Amino acid sequence: MYDFIKKQDKEVYTALWGEEERERDGLELIPSENYVSKAVREAQGSILTNKYSEGYPGKRYYGGQPFTDMAEVAAIERAKKLFGARFANVQPHSGANANIAMYFALLNPGDTLLGMDLSHGGHLTHGHPVTYITKFFNFVRYQMKNVETGEIDYDEMRATAKKHKPKIVLAGFSAYSRELDYQKFVDIAREVGAYSVIDIAHIAGLIAGGAAKNPFDFGFDVMTSTTHKTLRGPRGGLILIRESEEIAKKVDKAVFPGLQGGPLMHVIAAKAVAFGEALHPNFKTYTAQILKNAKAMEAVFRAGKVRMIAGGTSNHLILADVFGSLGIPGKEAEEVLDRAGITLNKNVIANDTRSPMDPSGIRFGTPAITTRGFKEKESARVAELMLMALQGRADKVILTTINSEVKALAQAHPITDSFV
Ligand SMILES: Cc1ncc(COP(=O)(O)O)c(C=O)c1O
Repeated sequence: MYDFIKKQDKEVYTALWGEEERERDGLELIPSENYVSKAVREAQGSILTNKYSEGYPGKRYYGGQPFTDMAEVAAIERAKKLFGARFANVQPHSGANANIAMYFALLNPGDTLLGMDLSHGGHLTHGHPVTYITKFFNFVRYQMKNVETGEIDYDEMRATAKKHKPKIVLAGFSAYSRELDYQKFVDIAREVGAYSVIDIAHIAGLIAGGAAKNPFDFGFDVMTSTTHKTLRGPRGGLILIRESEEIAKKVDKAVFPGLQGGPLMHVIAAKAVAFGEALHPNFKTYTAQILKNAKAMEAVFRAGKVRMIAGGTSNHLILADVFGSLGIPGKEAEEVLDRAGITLNKNVIANDTRSPMDPSGIRFGTPAITTRGFKEKESARVAELMLMALQGRADKVILTTINSEVKALAQAHPITDSFV
């Protein structure tokens, strides 16, 4: 592997092999990461990177498009089938781009959007002040009513919607571990004449595999997503439109020429391959196992008396208050676990008393270890090892012993080439 790079570029070759070994020998618990198949990597590393294809299939600005059109049409048709959408745009370069394009498609500058507060689970692109989109649009927020159960304050949300008259009511999250009441979002949006949109970046795979409800069944107008998290595709974005041709046209215009230039045709081909994999019956089994594995980890954390935000999980991720329960700041917990060979991220928790750069929580999840073939038993063991590492963090011998077990677990479950 990487034979040509080896011959011409030692520095990049070293970086690539380093990452190969890191992923092979460690356990990836970042809930937004996954391992893609060799087929996805082949498509992403393919000849299609050479081609400029501004525009859409059948309506390009440059010639020579028969094969780029073929790949993009495959991606669009498969995405539509997976999510029950009438229209799909597969060109956004990332989840952030998908959200920004959706905002420019549906809002005018100065318009208001109602989205989830970042510290309660929302994403930066849902209106955090550090993002430039807040210079264009006005963002108001909703939060959880009960941090111990994860219940969203829908009454407050309705009151905020009535007061601020948003043009978009946005569901979706990066660090929330329960299911949302989709009907309430759609009803509130309809009450105030707003578009109902959901950012499914984290749970797209769960929806595609039938392990989570499909928001389109509740009448959402639009779904935005990434393609690289639970959906297990290449790094990229996606916009799905349930029904409205008018919205679909606005979205297409916003993505290109509104926001982006030439689409990444090699990535779009890889999206098509990943969507094809998600349509395979194995993907159903995979996504059901993601949830079972998260439940197995939840049980260990509960037994270890570690507080979990929202009281646990109903999806692929857990947000644990390690500072409140174990007296270990999130940053230190991330570093300790890294030394044990377990990768996850520090995360702010609702009503955090600490700073965002060194918050109280850690966030972890099961999509990647499930791709490796972990079942409940191995997942529970990983959770036990995490607690052992955190509690024994001052002891080098303990961390070294845990690291050896982590490596053995990883090597016993190699990342295979094919997942179908
Ligand atoms: C809910 C949500 N939306 C959007 C994004 C942004 O995706 P990307 O990193 O591909 O821009 C993320 C990424 O973490 C996310 O969790």
